Amino acid sequence: MTHLTLTRRGLGAVALALGAPSVARAQSGVFRIGLILPMTGPFASTGRQIEAAVRAYLRQHGESFGGRRVEILLRDDTGTQPDVTRRLAQELVVRERVKALAGFGLTPLALAAAPIATEAKVPMVVMAAATSIIPSRSPFILRTSFTLPQATKPMAQWAARNGIRSAVTMVTDYAPGLDAEKAFKEQFTADGGQVTAELRTPLRNPDYAPFLQRVRDAAPQGLFIFVPSGEGAAVMKQFAERGLAQAGVRPIGTGDVLDDDILNDMGDPVLGMVTAHHYSAAHDSAENRAFLEAFRGIAPNARPNFMAAGGYDGVHLIAEMLKRTGGSDDGEKLVAAAKGLSWTSPRGPVTIEADTRDIRQDMYIRRAERRDGQIWNIEFDTIAQVRPNI
Ligand code: PHB
Repeated sequence: MTHLTLTRRGLGAVALALGAPSVARAQSGVFRIGLILPMTGPFASTGRQIEAAVRAYLRQHGESFGGRRVEILLRDDTGTQPDVTRRLAQELVVRERVKALAGFGLTPLALAAAPIATEAKVPMVVMAAATSIIPSRSPFILRTSFTLPQATKPMAQWAARNGIRSAVTMVTDYAPGLDAEKAFKEQFTADGGQVTAELRTPLRNPDYAPFLQRVRDAAPQGLFIFVPSGEGAAVMKQFAERGLAQAGVRPIGTGDVLDDDILNDMGDPVLGMVTAHHYSAAHDSAENRAFLEAFRGIAPNARPNFMAAGGYDGVHLIAEMLKRTGGSDDGEKLVAAAKGLSWTSPRGPVTIEADTRDIRQDMYIRRAERRDGQIWNIEFDTIAQVRPNI
């Protein structure tokens, strides 16, 4: 920035540098949040869901918190290129002077942005990506989604207790998939089960057919599946077409597979399938009913999925950070205000752990059932307050 191109923003920055609080104060009305999401590309459903949930929260709760009106700057990182996410984060911080970063649809994208948050001392709220290690990559990261072990271990435990003695794992071959594969094997083996094969499917342009053929040949009692949000329909279609159910293989998985965004279109083959996850649109609570209504106001034809829940809770977390700091711009103060925060989310009771900055939450075992002509994940068991790094 040169003296010739001083903008209102530039003047504010100069005033701040000179320590002129009245001018700085006048400039501090708006609190800008850089929301980086895959709005196009193979994971665009995640972007659509989170954006709608963020807008639903702001319509429901107003746009001012702690005396600051929040402004969302949405950027599309297309979902598959970490260098794009990193560049967008950098631009948002340097040029747009955002005071919080949020979104982050996939693990590699969150990891790419982490050093920017550290350097700029800006809170980074991970609303989607779910590999365990993410919050350890920057002291400015807070997370409102979940971790793969958090969902996977209760699933493995349930399987071992419900007649599944042998299982094959099939996960997408990148960080969250490997996290799930490891967690499943650890828990299932500890509970007396045996993992007979570990299959990894490609992240880009996956064809599940050859992998499912191998599962059929191995004939395990259970198949544990993790694929990222949006991919479940393709897997379950192939599962049905290969006749795996008839061959006696019971599909189980994290709730990513039976994602509410696409569940209703998966049809009869998924009925009865059991998964473990932190959010179902069928969750029976006042908070969830309010969320569903607010979401409908923004996206009348969509059903919110777990990504939407992460977005809604992520903007709630930022709102609380602003309230508790009296609308501070100071990243360290904002993060400190988030540590240990508890609230009742549409998914149930949650806490941002002070030590990990990650989310502790209830996990639910659910069965896909048809109710009033639509398919829902119906929760039938709860594992209370599961730690993120279980
Ligand atoms: C991730 O990349 O961390 C990720 C993406 C989608 C999911 C879960 C994890 O459904």
